[in-house]
Amino acid sequence: MDGTPASPTATSVGGGLGTAAAALASVEGISLDVVDRPIVAVQGLGFVGAAMSIAVASARGDEAPAFTVVGVDLDDAAGRARVDALNAGRFPFETTDASLLEALTAVRNGGNFVACCDPAAYALADVVVVDVPLDIDWRAEPPSLRLAGFEAAIRTVGRGVRPGVLVLVETTVPPGTTEKIVVPTLASELTARGIDPQSVLVAHSYERVMPGADYFNSIVNYWRVFAGHTPAAADAAEAFLQTVINTADYPLTRLTNTTASETAKVLENTFRATTIALMDEWSRFAELAGVDLFEVVDAIRMRPTHANMRTPGFGVGGYCLTKDPLFARLASTALFDTQLEFPFSTAAVRMNDEAPLTVLELVRRELGGELDGKKILLAGISYRQDVGDTRYSPSETFVHAAMAAGAQVAAHDPLVSHWDELEWDTPADLPDPDGFDAVVFAVPHAVYRGLVLADWLGDARPVIVDGFDVLRAEQRHEAQQLGCVVVSIGRGMHD
Ligand SMILES: NC(=O)c1ccc[n+]([C@@H]2O[C@H](COP(=O)([O-])OP(=O)(O)OC[C@H]3O[C@@H](n4cnc5c(N)ncnc54)[C@H](O)[C@@H]3O)[C@@H](O)[C@H]2O)c1
Repeated sequence: MDGTPASPTATSVGGGLGTAAAALASVEGISLDVVDRPIVAVQGLGFVGAAMSIAVASARGDEAPAFTVVGVDLDDAAGRARVDALNAGRFPFETTDASLLEALTAVRNGGNFVACCDPAAYALADVVVVDVPLDIDWRAEPPSLRLAGFEAAIRTVGRGVRPGVLVLVETTVPPGTTEKIVVPTLASELTARGIDPQSVLVAHSYERVMPGADYFNSIVNYWRVFAGHTPAAADAAEAFLQTVINTADYPLTRLTNTTASETAKVLENTFRATTIALMDEWSRFAELAGVDLFEVVDAIRMRPTHANMRTPGFGVGGYCLTKDPLFARLASTALFDTQLEFPFSTAAVRMNDEAPLTVLELVRRELGGELDGKKILLAGISYRQDVGDTRYSPSETFVHAAMAAGAQVAAHDPLVSHWDELEWDTPADLPDPDGFDAVVFAVPHAVYRGLVLADWLGDARPVIVDGFDVLRAEQRHEAQQLGCVVVSIGRGMHD
């Protein structure tokens, strides 16, 4: 697939495609401008695609919107809910990022943004951005790839797109996927339609989006890596990304081929997951040896070479760091017919998965060695501060293990009103600690770091376990002075 470079910023849609996009939008009750500007279809409106579609629709060229954006999700309950939310001007996930919400309002009013469940959108597109998942059973040993959903998504694109389109894969994939799966899958669909597969440009550029307080910025004001399956595809991807991202301040990095871009993503996340896991074993030592590992890490971070050293925590959750370190191992078998073991990467995933159980052991120890019948309040459900995403959250692992040991657990999170995985409705405010034997702080949400413990505790004196350096030193001291036992992961000394 190495057709003529088609700079999406320069392409004129013409041919009534603007009218067709407006007709598609009107089904959703959205009025789109009927103008000739490039159309971008964003496939998948999850945590990445919903924000990316808003970022693309926010891009300006000569003062006017650079693109008309059609976000597409599956026609099922979850997909429909995301589409309806975006079309109503609501972001589909809890977020604390005001700039993302402002951008959504602006593009909703701007006449260049619609969401739908209609794959007909791909036939209108100059650019298709692929933001669908590619899942693995990462807790299985050996872990296994679940490629079917991803392949089906690519096939749908191949059944719709026109010659000249740029297909930009942003999904995190096993290195080699664009070359060995995406390109052949598209080619077979295009050939079946009598379209020269060479006329479609395929590129990969991975997302570094960080849902949280800086959600929108982490797309438009952040460095990007990309590569094309061909030089022409790389040129087209570069032109597109330059329009969406502030590349003057955050220059793009172009890699030699798509497998390199895919490798960069999984190595980047593997590095992070591995350094987090490393701190887990040193936390055990610090707790045993009477050492405050946070103090130690601060001292080591003075060396510029070690400035990004991690600190102890509650483990790793979310959709990325839990699975991404296993992608290269899976690629070696599934795409390169060789079995490389990746022992560090695999051990990192396993250690991070077990980290919340270590915190549970601290709770057990402080409650006299027995959890049966004990009442535990868990403060923090999502996998990260300022994020409402509960996928693979360490808190879920903690709750299952605590309940299996006979404890009763109540949970709170300022950004979670319904905990989908456990099917729990959770209270809006941090519950009264009265009646709980232990309180575990698991996520450093701002509301916990701002808590005035004397006011909140009242007459209650639960054991307080800080599982993620959530509490400030003053808060820990305050609780101790009130008579609470306070222990922190990674702190061998009660301060
Ligand atoms: N969540 C993050 O913070 C983050 C950050 C960087 C990269 N990523 C990567 O980005 C990718 C997407 O992650 P996510 O968190 O947005 O996932 P998600 O599960 O939140 O969203 C994926 C969306 O794609 C939709 N979808 C699935 N198949 C589809 C199809 N055939 N057509 C249209 N829509 C379809 C799903 O319904 C869902 O809404 C993953 O590869 C992930 O690893 C995620």
